[in-house]
Amino acid sequence: MKRISLACSLLALLMAPLLMASVGTGQWLKHVPEKDRVRSNPLAHDSDATAAGAKLFHSDCAPCHGADAAGRGSRPTLRSERVRRATDGELEWLLRNGNLAHGMPSWSRLPEVQRWQIVRYVHALPI
Ligand code: HEC
Repeated sequence: MKRISLACSLLALLMAPLLMASVGTGQWLKHVPEKDRVRSNPLAHDSDATAAGAKLFHSDCAPCHGADAAGRGSRPTLRSERVRRATDGELEWLLRNGNLAHGMPSWSRLPEVQRWQIVRYVHALPI
């Protein structure tokens, strides 16, 4: 019995990096067209945008990514170097298009201004 549980623990240890690697691979970044990547956030200097984005985040994004945005199960953390390094334009593109094949819905039904508010909030998250 002991041997079996030892084997299971070893297996879990071996699998962990594989599972972790499959949580958000960042492949979507390769699909963002240059013109979207370089778009600047029209709300970059709007001091109310982050708070508005926080509200939207908590209703639309927190159910999957967690209220603290630290990720849940197969939903990646948004408090990462990759998300921080992504441009505002790249994040807005992802929100607009989603990545449904990998479980990330599209937010194209939101008015564009709300996507830019969410982007401000996501970029203000601590790592
Ligand atoms: C139904 C669950 C779900 C909801 C709701 C959701 N996401 Fe996601 N999100 C995912 C999954 C799953 C991925 C991983 C996709 C991938 O690996 O390409 C993801 C990926 C992302 C990424 C890329 C992370 C990375 O490390 O590459 C960002 C940014 C993101 N989501 C932001 C948001 C925001 C902002 C919202 C709210 C507007 C939101 N998501 C709502 C499931 C969700």
